[in-house]
This record gives sequence, structure tokens and C-alpha cells, in this order.
Amino acid sequence: MKSTGGSDAAKRRAGEAAAEQVTDGMAVGLGTGSTAAHAIDALGRAVDAGLDIVGVPTSFASRQCAIDRGIPIADLDEVDGLDIAIDGADQIVAESGDCIKGGGAAHTREKIVAAASEELLIVVDPTKVAETLDHTVAIEVIPAARTGVEAAVEGLDGTPTLRQASDKDGPVITDNGNLVVDADFGSIDDSAGLAASLSQVPGVVEHGLFVDYTSAVYIGSEDGVSETR
Ligand code: 5RP
Repeated sequence: MKSTGGSDAAKRRAGEAAAEQVTDGMAVGLGTGSTAAHAIDALGRAVDAGLDIVGVPTSFASRQCAIDRGIPIADLDEVDGLDIAIDGADQIVAESGDCIKGGGAAHTREKIVAAASEELLIVVDPTKVAETLDHTVAIEVIPAARTGVEAAVEGLDGTPTLRQASDKDGPVITDNGNLVVDADFGSIDDSAGLAASLSQVPGVVEHGLFVDYTSAVYIGSEDGVSETR
């Protein structure tokens, strides 16, 4: 899985600490990205040792990761809600848990899974923690709506950029067959207001602002993990 930001050891500590919260019989949302992958690794080892869980992946990548590690998986509509979801973030305010996701273009399913879960545990390294959110906001967009969504972003004082694939010519296509517009709003003072405004734009499938979803934040570092709940 592609790695971003801080050290792999810090990401691993965060992922492993969150995975320790999972107990027998749970249905677990499996997040996307290099930090969430460490949680999936740890859950795979626990399953090998007898832990009885079912995982609900948030992307093609996390589905493959779970299969490779022997974690039984299901679709969201095959389980009666989720107990815990574990996922990464591109930026987070630790005190509130409000965060920006979508660096892996998986934020639509990540938000669906988070909304279906009793708890959302966000796992990050210290480079992701901020006082105020100012990371670009990933917006998954129906292709035919791209220009309208870009105009709406500008109307909200943002600067839109169509995300391009790094491994081929052309735009990133999500697991759902859509485009991603990354919107730079500078420092976001009213994340709830911006989240609501973006949700109302026709053609926006979902955006990566997660407001009031997070139950706990695990911040891994070189020598330990801190948990904010
Ligand atoms: C994918 C996400 C990821 O969780 C986010 O990009 C963090 O990834 P990483 O742990 O690799 O830094 O939101 O859509």
C-alpha cells in the first residue's frame, strides 16, 4: 500500500493500538491507506490466533489487504451494523476528531462505513495532527458534473484541481467510477458549514470532510501511542 506522510513505525503503532480494541464477534470496518493497513495486518494476525470477526472493507485495496491476511469479509448489507471502524486520515484536529480523508480516493465508502459503525477509530502519525484543518478536501464527483462542481467550489472561495493519476495519463477514477476534485479552501474555520455546503452541490457524491464521526484518535509516534477520546 502506498505510504504517505510520517514514519511507518508511527503508523504501525497507531494501527496496532486501534486493532487491540477489536474483540470476538465484532463486525469491523476496514479503512484504506498505509496506516489503516497496519490495523488490518494486526487484525489478520489476531484472526490467525483465533479472533472471530468479520471485516467490511472500504475500498478495493482494503478488501484485497483483508483477503491476503485471511480476514473473513462481508459487504455492508450483509452485516447488522458495525461495532468498530478503523481508518486513517490526511489531517485531523485531535481534540474534536474532525478530519479530512480521501487521499486514497476512498472517502465515499469510508464515510458510509463510518456512519454505519458504533465507533470510528482514526489512526494517524503525528504529521497528520493540526490545530485547524487546512488540507485540500477530496470531493468525489460524477464525471458529467465536474465543471459545475468546480464552479461551486470557487463560489465557496475554494480552488479546485482535478486529481490526476500518478501511474498513468489521465484523472484518478474512484472504485465507484467517478472523478476526484481536490478543493483548497485554505484554513477551514467552519468545517460543519463547509461540509453541509459541499453536500448540497449537485453531482457531489461525497466529500472528505468528516465532522462529528470520530470516536477516538490514535496517534502513533516513534516511541508509543497516545489516544484521544
Ligand atoms: C483514503 C484515506 C486515507 O485513510 C488517508 O488518505 C490516510 O492515508 P495514509 O494512512 O496512507 O496516510 O482517507 O481515502
